[in-house]
Amino acid sequence: MTVTCSSLAVSAPTTPFPKLVPETPTDAAEVEALVDRAFGPGRFVKAAERLREGRRPLYDLSFVAREDGRLVGMVRLWSIRVGGTPSILLGPFAVDAAHRGQGLGGILIERACRAAAQAGHDAVLLVGDRAYFAALGFEPVPPGRIRVPGPVDPRRVLVRALRPGGADGLAGAVAPASP
Ligand SMILES: CC(C)(COP(=O)(O)OP(=O)(O)OC[C@H]1O[C@@H](n2cnc3c(N)ncnc32)[C@H](O)[C@@H]1OP(=O)(O)O)[C@@H](O)C(=O)NCCC(=O)NCCS
Repeated sequence: MTVTCSSLAVSAPTTPFPKLVPETPTDAAEVEALVDRAFGPGRFVKAAERLREGRRPLYDLSFVAREDGRLVGMVRLWSIRVGGTPSILLGPFAVDAAHRGQGLGGILIERACRAAAQAGHDAVLLVGDRAYFAALGFEPVPPGRIRVPGPVDPRRVLVRALRPGGADGLAGAVAPASP
């Protein structure tokens, strides 16, 4: 399609950017298939998985990206406690290999964090690569301050405050919590 703008003729993109919508229970099979492709069988031995197994994500704060109906990206948020404080855990987070490097991952993270902030949450915690998440506002937690169960490299425990000082009080052991 060609859009005429004053004297300029601008070609609109032929492929629309994937559309983000909150996850619903009916997305489960496609979400699991994407996570399997992205992480392989090793995903089940991840320490953060212990905080998620047998539970359901916070659907209103979890998002899927679809292009032409096909699920090409996802991020899930979960209810946890850090010490006695209610908080949010992010993960898994994956983009289909054919759609990587176009900013979709960053957009998924921003969308989920914005939804969590609007729902009144103060901070989001995750276990992941600082090299990727630093640009999205996540910072390492001082060693030992937040304890994720299982064998976790403490340098991979990252937190993003959703308001000024929102992560300041977070300390203690991480445990699952009811949504
Ligand atoms: C991580 C992931 C979701 C990023 O999705 P994406 O849509 O490609 O993300 P963006 O387009 O916003 O960012 C892409 C950039 O991040 C970089 N990047 C991706 N994973 C990275 C990592 N683990 N560490 C450092 N940089 C990383 C890419 O090289 C790319 O850099 P460039 O823009 O300089 O080329 C995707 O690579 C993926 O699904 N990976 C497998 C699953 C995974 O590792 N999930 C995160 C674990 S918590």
